[in-house]
Formats: sequence, C-alpha cells, structure tokens
Amino acid sequence: MYKYDHIDQTLVDQRVIQFRDQVERRLNGTIAEEEFRPLRLQNGLYHQRHAYMLRVAIPYGLLSAKQLRTLAFIADKYDRGYAHFTTRQNIQFNWVELEQTPDILAELAKVEMHAIQTSGNCIRNITSDAFAGVAADEYIDPRPICELLRQWSTLHPEFAHLPRKFKFAINGAKEDRTVLLCHDVGIELKKDPNINNGELTADIYAGGGMGRTPILGSLIKQGLPWQVLPSYLTALLRVYNRFGRRDNLYKARIKILVKSLGPEEFARQVEGEWAYLHNEAKQSKDNFTKYEWERVAKHFTKPAYQQLNTMSDEAIPAAATEAERGAFTRWLKRNVKSHQVPGYASVILSLKPHGTVAPGDATSAQMNAIADLADQYSFGELRVTHEQNLVLADVEQSKLLELWQAAKQQHVALPNIGLLTDIIACPGGDFCSLANAKSLPIAKAIQERFDDLDYLFDLGDISLNISGCINSCGHHHVGNIGVLGVDKDGEEWYQITLGGEQGNDASIGKVIGPSFYANEIPDVMTSLINVYVEQRTTDEPFIETYRRLGVSPFKEAAYKNNGKHSKGALA
Ligand code: HEM
Ligand code: SF4
Repeated sequence: MYKYDHIDQTLVDQRVIQFRDQVERRLNGTIAEEEFRPLRLQNGLYHQRHAYMLRVAIPYGLLSAKQLRTLAFIADKYDRGYAHFTTRQNIQFNWVELEQTPDILAELAKVEMHAIQTSGNCIRNITSDAFAGVAADEYIDPRPICELLRQWSTLHPEFAHLPRKFKFAINGAKEDRTVLLCHDVGIELKKDPNINNGELTADIYAGGGMGRTPILGSLIKQGLPWQVLPSYLTALLRVYNRFGRRDNLYKARIKILVKSLGPEEFARQVEGEWAYLHNEAKQSKDNFTKYEWERVAKHFTKPAYQQLNTMSDEAIPAAATEAERGAFTRWLKRNVKSHQVPGYASVILSLKPHGTVAPGDATSAQMNAIADLADQYSFGELRVTHEQNLVLADVEQSKLLELWQAAKQQHVALPNIGLLTDIIACPGGDFCSLANAKSLPIAKAIQERFDDLDYLFDLGDISLNISGCINSCGHHHVGNIGVLGVDKDGEEWYQITLGGEQGNDASIGKVIGPSFYANEIPDVMTSLINVYVEQRTTDEPFIETYRRLGVSPFKEAAYKNNGKHSKGALA
C-alpha cells in the first residue's frame, strides 16, 4: 500500500492549517458564505439538505485497517455513528459541524487521507478496480499508475478550474470493474507482446459520463506508452479546458465536446497539442521516468503470501457443519472471487443488508469490526467497490469459513453480491439537496419485497441502480434495471430504465415510459422480474433476456396494473 512521503504529508498537513484558518474566518464573519463556498468545496465540504456533508477520497479504493478505524472514529466523534461509501470510492459523512471539519481533516491527515479534490471542477478521486493486484483476470496491477496519476493531478495548477468536474477510471484486467466507459477519461492498461515490446501501455477512452446526457466513452488513443501518460493527458485536458462549454453548465462536460466534435476530430486535436507538448516534455522530464515508477511501484509489491495449494470447490464447504453448509456455499458462490495466488481468495463483504440501513452505509461498529477482520484475514488492507461494498482481497481459502462466521456477526455476510438486492443507490432526498425524489426508501422497499434468498439466487445476476435525480450518482443508466427519481409538480415520481449494463459490454438503459408513484415500484419490479422468469432460457441472465426480447413484454407487464394503485409515497 502506498505510504506518504514527506511531500504528501506536508501537503495534507498544510491544507489542514489553511482550512482551519478559513473556517475560523467564516465563523467569525470575516468572510461571507459566497467567499467561503469555493474554499470549502476544495476540501470536499458540501452543504446539504440538513447539514454539512464531507466527502473523503479513498484513492483507487484502497484502505488500510488503520484508516478504516479512523473513519469509524470520525463517524463516532463527529457524525452520527455511520458513514456512506460511494460509487466512486469515496466515503461521505453526512452530519458534520462546520467548526469541527478542520479537526476531521487533521484526523484524516494522521492516517494519510484527505478530502482534497473530492469536489469542484478539478480532477476528482481516481477510481480503479477493487480487485487490483489480486484478480485472476488481471493483465497488470493498475495501482502504481493510479498513484502516479493521483500525485500528478493533485493540486495541478493548470487543471484546478476546468469547465466541469473531471473523473478518471483506470482498469488493468480483462473484465472492466470500474465502469470505465462512463468516465470523462477511462484508461485501460495492457501488456501486449505486439505493442511497445510488451511494455505497459494504455488505451484511452474519452467523453463518457452519465447525468442528463448519458454517453459511453470513445476510444481515442491506443497503445500509449505508460511513461507519456502525463503529457498525453495534459494535452487532452488542455483541449477540453480550451473548448469545453463554460457558458453552459449542462454542456460543459467533456462528453459534450467529444460528441460535438466527433471522437476522431477530438483525438486529432489532442494529438496536435500532444505533438507540441510531448517534444517539449521530453526535454523537461514532465513524463514519468523509470525512477518515478520504482519509487511508487515498490509500495504495491505482493504481501507475504504463504505457499499453499489451491483447495477444491468441494473441500472448502466441507469444513462447515451440515446445518451451515447451504448458507456457506451460497456465500462462497456469490461473495468469494478467485485469486492470482494458489490457496487464496478475495471476499466481498455486503453493505446491502435487507432493508435496514442505506446501501453503502456502514456503522462505526461495523467499520471497526471489519478493520479487525482485515488485520486478521487479509494483511490489514481492504478495498471499496464501486457497487458500494467492501473487499478483503487476500484471504486464505482455509480461513473462509471462519471469516464467514465472523462477518455474519457484523451483518456483512449477506450472499447477495450481484443479485437484485445488491442495489446501488445515491443518498437521494433523504440527504441530498439536489434530489427530486428519495432513493433510500425505494431501495428498502425493493429489498424487503425480494428478501427470499433462494428466489434471488434463482434469478441470478441482475443489477438494479437508483438515483434521486438526473445527476445519476446512483448510476441508474447502467443498471439492468434503473430507477430515476423525477419531480412532477412537487411530487416524487420514478422513471424506469431497462437494458443498462456496466463493464466491457456497457450500455445505457432505455426509459420504458411514463413514471410511477413510489408505492407502485415494488409491484413494477415484481412484474418485470416475472416476465424474465417466464421468458428466460436456461441460464440466461436478465440482461440477455431483455436484449433478446426487447422492451415490449417488460413494458406491457409494468403498465398492466398501472393506475390501479392509489398515488402516494412508501410507508
Ligand atoms: C449528497 C451529495 C451529492 C451531491 C451534491 C452530488 C452532486 C452531483 C452532481 C451535481 C452531479 C452531476 C454532475 C455530473 O454530470 O456528473 C453528480 C453526479 C454523480 N455523482 Fe454525485 N452528488 C452527491 C452524492 C453522490 C454520491 C453519494 C455518489 C456515489 C454514490 C455520487 C457519485 C456521482 C456519480 C457517479 C455521478 C455521475 C456523473 C457522471 O459521471 O456523469 N454522488 N453528483
Ligand atoms: S443523483 Fe441527485 S439526488 Fe442522488 S446524490 Fe446525486 S445529486 Fe443527489
């Protein structure tokens, strides 16, 4: 895991001092809210519906047990005993007091964390694969590149005032687990023997994003040598900085620029800027050097794995008692992933219990207990997934039973990963001041409706994503089933999209028709699922059935009973 050097540490420590002074001046009235607003947003501090919300970065989703304990401590001391993991590998505290935020940043700085660039029109937290370094399908561990780019982008003076916020995702495996194509820039790392002598290269996708105008990114550069990423990305950001639509908030994202120019023309312009810059940069050593790589990459060496044999699929559940075996096997199937190293596995801890807390929320008690599990079973490290769950990446297969039993105690062992109740949801109207409608009660009602694990298992992989407004924080566009909160004359309604998909085969869902009242949504879900169950062929996942049949049968079923419901919110 990357350890801060004195430069990183000085930077975050100085930021705490600077922000403490800014908060003091705000509190004593020396600066007005309009002046303070950009300063607080530079430190991830929003003002939400009820309180201040602090967003803290978890670069490429990697956390130490110690950092998680600090987050738990902050949740206890400065918040209401819980916090929310987001789809971009950040954590949000929803109830912080302004006067205490410098102290929170100071606590974070002690464990090499911060909230810099988690808001504002700058390069946001760089997200990556939660299984980086351990995934069986990995070409290359993306984390050294993520860290180099984190350092390159942090407080980059030229990119502090972009037309809009800017999001990078980096993937280094066969399967995309980063929603790469929905980012402003997606970087796909590869090692291909036919390109650059098999050295590390990057394919660059630009212009993806969700929100009001969902667009998938376009490939604009292939086989870029890793060393020149800074100058290439500088060129790309310069083109965006110059031509991004600053005159219109809704058109200011890079996706609109790439769309209006066309990916070829955008790529040509980037290439032009790069030709100039790259020649210059070669002289000025702006690009990454081997020395830089070594400085950072040494932090991501493999932990002290034991020499173990891979256990067979039958041997692992055999350790459980007869009474436990069914439930344990289910958990192995859904929550445990294969690993690069024999005898090890990666475990996903579900933060999606049945309808009790919000998807992605963890209490401080859970965070502390999970930190202990990380120490005991996974070399003191864990990861945050963009589906808002946590991962213990390096667990010995022979310890899986023990870990499952301990995780059950903390209610994070629900075997629902990738199933209908593993819902991605934004905080919606319960917290967010931008919301048109609530997300969390919808998620809860669906989780309660579909609480039969056997049934969920039988349904198999289905992604259900919910956003409280068109900003799409809950990724509804790329859910197989998406739910979007809309406002009609001051009332909360919900629009359904179908056919969205994340990953290599990403697609944007289509709206099926007029929106529904909140209390209709569980029935609508049941209707959609029934169509799938009736129409699927053996082993056909939901998305394939949808692609084969198209929207009509689903739409028909969803609207069959529409209008028979009384209008209203969920209880
Ligand atoms: C509660 C405070 C929040 C505020 C004020 C907020 C604000 C916004 C705004 C204004 C946008 C639209 C801009 C855009 O086009 O990207 C947006 C989009 C987005 N936000 Fe949030 N958000 C909040 C919470 C969250 C949470 C909790 C998550 C993760 C669960 C999240 C992740 C995202 C993502 C992934 C997008 C999609 C936009 C894209 O990439 O195109 N946000 N948010
Ligand atoms: S989608 Fe809308 S309601 Fe939900 S968190 Fe984002 S901005 Fe808020």
